[in-house]
Amino acid sequence: MSNEPTTSPTDAQARPNVARMYDYYLGGCHNFAADREAAERVLQIFPDTGVAAQTNRAFLRRAVRYAAEQGVRQFLDVGAGLPTQGTVHEVVRAVAPESRVVYVDSDEVAVAYARRLLPGDDRTAAIRGDLRRPGEILADPEVGRLIDLREPVAVLLVAVLHFVPDADDPYAAVARLRDATVPGSMLVLSHLTLDGVPPVAAAQGQAVYQRSSAPLTPRTYAETERFLAGYELVPPGLVQLAQWRPDGEPQAGVSHGYGGVGVRR
Ligand SMILES: C[S@@+](CC[C@H](N)C(=O)[O-])C[C@H]1O[C@@H](n2cnc3c(N)ncnc32)[C@H](O)[C@@H]1O
Repeated sequence: MSNEPTTSPTDAQARPNVARMYDYYLGGCHNFAADREAAERVLQIFPDTGVAAQTNRAFLRRAVRYAAEQGVRQFLDVGAGLPTQGTVHEVVRAVAPESRVVYVDSDEVAVAYARRLLPGDDRTAAIRGDLRRPGEILADPEVGRLIDLREPVAVLLVAVLHFVPDADDPYAAVARLRDATVPGSMLVLSHLTLDGVPPVAAAQGQAVYQRSSAPLTPRTYAETERFLAGYELVPPGLVQLAQWRPDGEPQAGVSHGYGGVGVRR
């Protein structure tokens, strides 16, 4: 299978893309002019967005390390984005080298980069898939090859659910993934919120994303917590991202969202 994107570069580059905007916030180099311009507009409204993106990545690293330390050896990372420093397979393999990771993203450019940058081994794969169609993700041959659904799986939905509007029923999609996994499986969740953000700034930020590849649906604490139905929350529960089990790793303390880990009952 080719690792190259199949849309023309012009199509792929013309519209700000949320995966590459996020890459720009993180200081990455896999982004185009339209992505940088949109990201700079967001940074004018929320200057700490880059720090918040680092905070989210640090949460992801802590959460997957926790899952690996609890004995989980399979990771399904939906909305994985571009492989960046401290990727999931690097973190979990430091705990358990046999861990298997499937990266899933709806953006074909992100998947193409992932295939190019990931190790060419038999324990990682990057596939194209849409969280709004969880059945297709679960039926993907690469998922079937690397993820044994009879064993616990950590499903990672980190900074992705806010790209799925209520009209697409993200709660049903999360429940579908939950129901496909056995007790002891985990959900690692982070979600953007605009709780406490002045309405004018919130509207300006959302307007930038409205013209991107995936408009934003920030959610409240209660709306975010609903995604964890059927899971028992690991202490300290669903909290500001920087407050979830800080481990002394140098990390930024700016949270634009909530994060938590649940264990399937
Ligand atoms: C902000 S990035 C988060 C990347 C990574 N999970 C992290 O937290 O560092 C969001 C990613 O979700 C992807 N995405 C958006 N909507 C999606 C959907 N419906 N299904 C799968 N991926 C999606 C985007 O392409 C992007 O790569």
